[in-house]
Amino acid sequence: MSRQKIQIILVLASLALVALLSAQLVWLTKAYSVEEKAFNHRVQVALTSVSDQLLTGLGRAEAKPIQQIASNYYLAELNAPVDPSQVEHLLEQELGKRNLHEAYEFGVYNSLDDTLMFGKYVPATHRQLAEKGDAILKHEQTGTPLLYNVAVVFPGKTAVILGEMEFWWYSTGALLLVVLFFAYTMFQILREKRLTELKTDFINNLTHELQTPITNIGLASEVLRKRPETLSPERLTRYHDLIYSENERLRAQVERVLQMATMESGELALKKEPVDVHALLQQTSQNVAPRLQQRSGHLRLDLQATRSLVHADSLHVANALYSLLDNAEKYSTQAPAIEIQTRDVEQGLLISIRDHGIGIKQEFQKFLFDKFYRVPTGNVHNVKGFGLGLSYVKAIMDAHHGQVTVESAEQGGTRFTLVLPV
Ligand SMILES: Nc1ncnc2c1ncn2[C@@H]1O[C@H](COP(=O)(O)OP(=O)(O)OP(=O)(O)O)[C@@H](O)[C@H]1O
Ligand SMILES: [Mg+2]
Repeated sequence: MSRQKIQIILVLASLALVALLSAQLVWLTKAYSVEEKAFNHRVQVALTSVSDQLLTGLGRAEAKPIQQIASNYYLAELNAPVDPSQVEHLLEQELGKRNLHEAYEFGVYNSLDDTLMFGKYVPATHRQLAEKGDAILKHEQTGTPLLYNVAVVFPGKTAVILGEMEFWWYSTGALLLVVLFFAYTMFQILREKRLTELKTDFINNLTHELQTPITNIGLASEVLRKRPETLSPERLTRYHDLIYSENERLRAQVERVLQMATMESGELALKKEPVDVHALLQQTSQNVAPRLQQRSGHLRLDLQATRSLVHADSLHVANALYSLLDNAEKYSTQAPAIEIQTRDVEQGLLISIRDHGIGIKQEFQKFLFDKFYRVPTGNVHNVKGFGLGLSYVKAIMDAHHGQVTVESAEQGGTRFTLVLPV
């Protein structure tokens, strides 16, 4: 699938999902408002019935309609000398009849100045048998009876309504699950896509890298085959040397690819033995020394660790160190200046390899240890490589229960830090 096609699918599918989610949201709010209306209705009918009964008891006319002051706050304007315990009893009875078993608070207020005369919290369910709740009695009723209003509050109204929308939670949950699966699938597809692209780059790169020595060997052997007698001994040696070195290069390259394949199949067999990392560092530095000399660069060793003995596979660790030094040299435009430092740390031995080369932008750093990854440089690839070095380093460090981290700034050089348990 082409990148464009994937993008179109991604956008369309995301749009469809957004539409679906919005529809669900609209339905959810609608369902909520329907449930809320039903709740309000039940409370209002119950309160009307309470008011009517209270007022008829006092020989008064019908009550005023129930007012809803806030979403969960209902007021019955009675303006009558009612008895709080009777209010409580009637509320109990009427709410119960309408299946409203939620906790509520009610208050009896003086209708003239709105002061609370009596208040009580009634807990949810089985109220008939229940604890009495905490009542506050502000004023004893003395002398001429005052005129009261009754207010009822349902503190848990929203929770109750949400609880009644069970079906909606299941369907929303299912929808979210679909979104999650979709996101995961897309993530996987994009990852696969990226890997395929990297692999294609790698194959192009590899073909190119193999072609150069093959061509060189071909040309040299052609000359040797056709006119060996006309060649001077020096030129003969030069051609032989060329064939030999190009063949070595070819072999090394094939070896690296094979090594990667072995690692991929999980067959990396480590031969662990006590290894002196300092000696290893000195040896690998010597291996890059000729290349550094050629570019008039220099390498400084600062080996401060007191415990440099680790239990490791010396060949693989040496390869990993070489890979880092190779990068430090390759990715320096001016004369390479490399510093190697070791230090004791809590987790073991720390090795830091620092260069002053081109550096790596922050945004690319998280991909560095991915197989085949090379920092994109447009179409110019003046530094050759397969993007295998760092993924190898990472694999080797993992196999030794070590760590590798990178710090870098564009044009500010790079520092790779390895930590190996001693
Ligand atoms: N010291 C460094 N300075 C700047 N960039 C670096 C450095 N080390 C690695 N990189 C970037 O990280 C990429 C991945 O490095 P890695 O060693 O895995 O591959 P490579 O050097 O391109 O190829 P290979 O090591 O397989 O020959 C490189 O292509 C380069 O862009
Ligand atoms: Mg490399």
